[in-house]
Amino acid sequence: MSFDKEIEKRRTFAIIAHPDAGKTTLTEKFLLYGGAIQTAGAVKSNKIKKSATSDFMEIEKQRGISVATSVMSFEYKNVLVNLLDTPGHKDFAEDTYRTLTAVDSVILVVDCVKGVEMQTEKLMEVCRMRKTPVIIFVNKMDRDGKDPFDLLDELEQKLDIKVRPLSWPINKGTFFKGVYNIFDKNLNLYRTSGTTVEEEFVAIQDINSPELDKQLDKRDADKLREDIDLIEGVYDDFKVTDYLNGDIAPVFFGSGVNNFGVRELLETFIRISPVPRPRNAGDRIIYPTEPKFTGFVFKIHANIDPNHRSRIAFLRVCSGKFERNKFFYHTRSNKNMRFSNPVTFMASDKNIVEDAYAGDVIGLNDTGNFKIGDTLTEGEKLTFKGIPSFSPEIFKELVNTDPMKTKQLEKGVSQLMEEGVAQLFTTHLTNAKIIGTVGELQFEVIQYRLLHEYGASCSFKPMQYYKAFWISSDDANEINQFIKTKYNYVAFDKDENPVFLATSEWIYTLTKQDYPKINFHTTSEMEQDEIVK
Ligand code: G4P
Repeated sequence: MSFDKEIEKRRTFAIIAHPDAGKTTLTEKFLLYGGAIQTAGAVKSNKIKKSATSDFMEIEKQRGISVATSVMSFEYKNVLVNLLDTPGHKDFAEDTYRTLTAVDSVILVVDCVKGVEMQTEKLMEVCRMRKTPVIIFVNKMDRDGKDPFDLLDELEQKLDIKVRPLSWPINKGTFFKGVYNIFDKNLNLYRTSGTTVEEEFVAIQDINSPELDKQLDKRDADKLREDIDLIEGVYDDFKVTDYLNGDIAPVFFGSGVNNFGVRELLETFIRISPVPRPRNAGDRIIYPTEPKFTGFVFKIHANIDPNHRSRIAFLRVCSGKFERNKFFYHTRSNKNMRFSNPVTFMASDKNIVEDAYAGDVIGLNDTGNFKIGDTLTEGEKLTFKGIPSFSPEIFKELVNTDPMKTKQLEKGVSQLMEEGVAQLFTTHLTNAKIIGTVGELQFEVIQYRLLHEYGASCSFKPMQYYKAFWISSDDANEINQFIKTKYNYVAFDKDENPVFLATSEWIYTLTKQDYPKINFHTTSEMEQDEIVK
């Protein structure tokens, strides 16, 4: 197959959702359609079901499972789909944000009973920032959920994106009859008999076709016509380019567990979703069809193997062709490296991969050379942008409880931070190490892993910070002055960038007023919209 065809064939995306909305179920149905698995139940939910406290086996299991299912590749109708897994637990949200930097589009699953939940808003914020095309799947239509029109309003309001239904449910809950596919103008009827559910596609010319009256009773047919009329009146015609530009999110309705509406979603997805997109490498834009290989590491996973030195770095190929055993240039360390056992993942199997193209994600065995955001090329000195850190929500100072193991602790902390388990901020004055996370669970993970993998013990002292703000200014003096005056509230991130640790929103607002020449950013990368359309 020609080089360009290889790239055009690929679709790399993630399914994101609030826990329990149905991400695992939908993933599994996609894999069944793609023939990557043969039986239901093969994909294990990677969420930690019990309330987290100290159930470390569960954490370990979670780590193991998410390595195995980190990337699931399958072919459907000659399209090579790379589905990147995201952690189910909200405390691992930072991991999800990073995974979103490696995909070209997203399917967002929303539970029709619960509507848009907090975590979904946050994830959508990241997609919006990066202009990632999003398709929304409203799941669990077999349950008595919210009114679909209300849901569309809620999606627009809470997710701050224009939506456009491409399918429409006929009733809901126990009266759910199926969906009308607005995009393809056909009816997909939901028939249950005993314990099985079947899809039945009925082609109709348009919504006024008498065929509709044959398939549905009068009340349902009238209501559907009314609804579609309203939709066509309220929403503009759907344009694929608006979706690809991240300006509009098409919406589908269905029921994952019943495998209803899933095939339509997948079919539309492979038709409209973006092929691998160009990426910003600071000095220039890298196009997927460029002949020379480039790629970046967006995730590092310590192996479940107790020999913690072995890790897997996940690399997204951005251009050219990755080849096994070929030397590539690691731009941060200025070294050449080659990989004899790069792997791809297929459900729970790992396979050695000989070559990979833009859009592919490969796992590279790592003995501690990689950091999140590292770039590999064929010699060009560049670094991909768009893998920012976001302000953590919980801050604690790391306290060394075994001074005899200081070295081990330092090493362990530094490696865990490179993996992206949490963020580390260090104060210059006292050299205090402040760990920032999005959830309490990370502190348990850090404590446990430091002890078990590095033999170092620590405790955490809670700190009352509201958020971390990366600071910048055109005037270097202004920054120096700020750091001097606010020394109690300034720390430095892993790349030695100064960060203001605000104790409350009020203090943040006041400080901003006091220092008009300083810019405060909630992400480590100052510019937004790192992805090129
Ligand atoms: P997640 O990965 O987003 O956390 O969600 P997951 O797929 O694990 O689904 C959460 C629960 O919702 C599961 O039930 C699943 O069976 C159910 N579910 C998924 N899709 C639908 C749907 O379309 N309709 C209905 N009614 N339920 C759905 P569970 O009881 O938590 O787990 P399980 O024992 O069924 O696996």
